Amino acid sequence: MSLTRPTKDEIVAANRASWNEAADHHRAHDQYKRLLECFARPGFSMLDEVMATRLQAIGLDGKAVAQLCCNNARELLSIKNLGAARVTGFDFAEEFLAQGRELAAAGGIEAEFVQTDINAIPADYDGQFDLAVVTIGVFGWQPDLAAFFSTARRVLKPGGRLFIYEDHPILNMYDDRDTGGPPQPDESYFRSEPYRSDNGLDYWAKQDYAAKPNYWIFHKMSDVIMGLVRAGFAIEDFEEFPHNIGTREHMENQPQQLPLSYVLVGRKAG
Ligand SMILES: C[S@@+](CC[C@H](N)C(=O)[O-])C[C@H]1O[C@@H](n2cnc3c(N)ncnc32)[C@H](O)[C@@H]1O
Repeated sequence: MSLTRPTKDEIVAANRASWNEAADHHRAHDQYKRLLECFARPGFSMLDEVMATRLQAIGLDGKAVAQLCCNNARELLSIKNLGAARVTGFDFAEEFLAQGRELAAAGGIEAEFVQTDINAIPADYDGQFDLAVVTIGVFGWQPDLAAFFSTARRVLKPGGRLFIYEDHPILNMYDDRDTGGPPQPDESYFRSEPYRSDNGLDYWAKQDYAAKPNYWIFHKMSDVIMGLVRAGFAIEDFEEFPHNIGTREHMENQPQQLPLSYVLVGRKAG
């Protein structure tokens, strides 16, 4: 961990290199092989009930859907299988987009993948989408949350929705390893310095490797909510949950249960 303060551009460049470096580690994991097998089955969806129910209520049939920071696009491909007409995944890590293309090919799923920093999405995509989706571990990589929400607004049609299903920011206070016993906070919720890690991003195997540095930013729940509002979204849904959607299985079912995840939905106003 270091307290040096890199610029926003340095953070994005470092994180991109770190994600690309992580791709081979993920590819080697059984979970990736299982995804390839699962997507070969027609209509496969890996969305959990919370996400599937809410997206079906919003309506997917015939919709154009974007996933911002899509990684291997497992959620986006599930959304296509659940009825979306057109799906586009944006991510700056070409090595993960390659995996997305492989998963799509395994199921014969039509999907578009665009390699770009999220805040540099080409203007061709402005106003193209009914729905933009953000899931599990995206905001912490963003040095500029206002820019991120502005991009989300830009790519949506008028009245389009941004659907967020994220790790709860209170998790930033806790180590993501199971140290045994009840979770103990070791960071401030209000930390303002980027958190540097050199341990890599193999959160599937939960194994460190000698890695390029990456930077994680602590955004409070209020930063996310007010960022959405300031960007011109009307909040339609917000709910916090006790269940893990990322790497915090060990933090579920505690006597003093923390919020581990949340859904937040904004509608593009105006
Ligand atoms: C934790 S992953 C998202 C996980 C995915 N929702 C899932 O559950 O499989 C975060 C993704 O954000 C991407 N990312 C981070 N910052 C980005 C940026 N500025 N522009 C584009 N992609 C970015 C990374 O490449 C990575 O694929």
